[in-house]
Amino acid sequence: MFGKKHLLDIKSLSKDEILQILDVAKDMKRKINVPSLRDDSLKNKSIATLFYENSTRTKMSFMLAGKYLGATMEDLNISTSSVNKGESLIDTGITLAQMGVQAIVMRNGYAGASHLLAKNVNASIINAGDGSNEHPTQALLDAYTILEKKNISGLKIAIIGDIANSRVAKSDAICFSKLGAFVYLYAPSTLISKRMEIFKNVKVCENMKDAIEGADVVMGLRVQFEREKNVKFPNVDEYYKYFGVKDDAIKLAQKDAIIMHPGPVNRGVEMSTSVIDCKNSLINEQVKNGVAVRMAVLKLLLENG
Ligand code: CP
Repeated sequence: MFGKKHLLDIKSLSKDEILQILDVAKDMKRKINVPSLRDDSLKNKSIATLFYENSTRTKMSFMLAGKYLGATMEDLNISTSSVNKGESLIDTGITLAQMGVQAIVMRNGYAGASHLLAKNVNASIINAGDGSNEHPTQALLDAYTILEKKNISGLKIAIIGDIANSRVAKSDAICFSKLGAFVYLYAPSTLISKRMEIFKNVKVCENMKDAIEGADVVMGLRVQFEREKNVKFPNVDEYYKYFGVKDDAIKLAQKDAIIMHPGPVNRGVEMSTSVIDCKNSLINEQVKNGVAVRMAVLKLLLENG
């Protein structure tokens, strides 16, 4: 039994709850690969996606995850919705719940928006990214992807890029640390804060070498230009030169180091094409695992509700 109604963040999940989701995801991945194994365990459930920010991976994988389990899936297109007539987030959520929606998968630019909806709407709320706060299903799929290749406990995981604005970096750091890994962060000093070290087993590094040397996993992050009024570095070429993950940096990591990126990737900004497409890159596998993990989340939250 999974005792939660909502999935709002990684912070409030125990290690056992994380492992339970990942265990169910293993079974879900088999169902993706072999359609005849699929069941319709969510056939009486209606799920809405409510994305106030752009998305390809998260929205599409939730839509497919629900459909693979037999749920009715609907997307509220914010750009043509009554949000543009001034309807509030809470009223929008209540409206969806009144139509019989049992779960709302929500992405919003404001940190805490999904918590607000969970307090005010009678439906399961799944946080698909809230501002710079958390992106729990991304962390779960990242952990799942690592666990398919390596035992995560004791690993050195380097995360390089725009840490300050990244909900992925925060959820990943908390998730990996709960599973026993050590997380090393590196970014321009304007895009990182020492405050990340409040999380257990998380270290903010002074240079790329300290972050990547001996790493078992190297993850790049997109620069989130949309979250900054003023760009926090001189220009993209300089960013790539000093902070982009390229072959020379990867040579410092373990030979079998896994390369990851939550996407969307900007080639030649946060990572070189040769790194993105190298044989150890699991970036495409992350996308596939996203469907399995989101199937597991929907099943655990809704099946017995
Ligand atoms: N990783 C991620 O959240 O991608 P999307 O913005 O495409 O959903």
